[in-house]
Amino acid sequence: MRVEVLGAGIVGLTVADELVRRGHDVTVVDPRPALGASYAAAGMLSPTAEVWYGEEDLLRLGSASLRMWPELARRLGVELRQHGTLLVGYDAGDLQQVDRQVELLTRHGHDAQLLDRAGVRDREPALARVTGGALLPEEASVDPRAVCDALLARVPLVGVPRGADVTVVATGTSLPPPFSGLVTGVRGEILRLRTDDPPLRTVRGWAAGEPVYLVPRGGGGLVLGATSERHDGPPVVTAGGALRLLAAARQLWPALDRAELVEGTARDRPATADGLPLVGPSGVDGVLLAAGHHRHGVLLAPLTARLVADHLEDGHLEPVLDPRRAMEGVR
Ligand code: GLY
Repeated sequence: MRVEVLGAGIVGLTVADELVRRGHDVTVVDPRPALGASYAAAGMLSPTAEVWYGEEDLLRLGSASLRMWPELARRLGVELRQHGTLLVGYDAGDLQQVDRQVELLTRHGHDAQLLDRAGVRDREPALARVTGGALLPEEASVDPRAVCDALLARVPLVGVPRGADVTVVATGTSLPPPFSGLVTGVRGEILRLRTDDPPLRTVRGWAAGEPVYLVPRGGGGLVLGATSERHDGPPVVTAGGALRLLAAARQLWPALDRAELVEGTARDRPATADGLPLVGPSGVDGVLLAAGHHRHGVLLAPLTARLVADHLEDGHLEPVLDPRRAMEGVR
């Protein structure tokens, strides 16, 4: 089949790569490849740390996609850090957040080990000031920029559409009509640092109620994120956003003061009305969507690729992601 994938972010590129692997004639269209939300993303593969009550479908789908990452990372030759995520709370109120998260996860059969202050310090000595936490051993992380670079080397890319049998729309927050109203932008501001003393694993925590995460990379790189704010202006890093992130991170990780501040980036996450992505037939002939991944684009990329390819080949559909649920009343 001749397939055009609109959007060279991690979702569009992973879809395109899967279709190429299955022998389809694929072109990716993007005048500015890999510079959208994937460029900002920290790359947490966190189906358990980043879900909440009412998001059990995301937990199930995210866990399925996490299981696909080792094979994808191996094939692309990118590092997959598999040290789990440490959830931490700075004060007693923050620790209640950790307890609630652990309660949710254990109820659904996921591994989550509660730790006292000493248990956290044993695993991450630099987290000197936290009250306690929990280890989520299943979780991992990748560098989305490295993933996109590897994918861009494997799929044909053009700047403008040429026409095909099927179009897959994977353009993040900028969906074309008639789909444009299906997602809204949720700004995420994120900082990149370099340090001699990074944590080993992803740390996700709350500091006096402020959520924050630290995702280590090889070579002393550390990604600190992220704000989350609905807005209709251009995504820029604000002084207030950066201050909030730095203040929260410093409470958990005092060594922040010595880290080099390398970069600030802001992008919009594409959020849907019901919090679930739109993957599958759009209701418009010949057009599929792979969109609306909000906080989970990196995590859900391999599952999305499989779902899109399976749908093209045999009509398979994941019912809760069927985009037509959101199209009622749009056309
Ligand atoms: N998944 C991380 C974020 O959305 O900030």
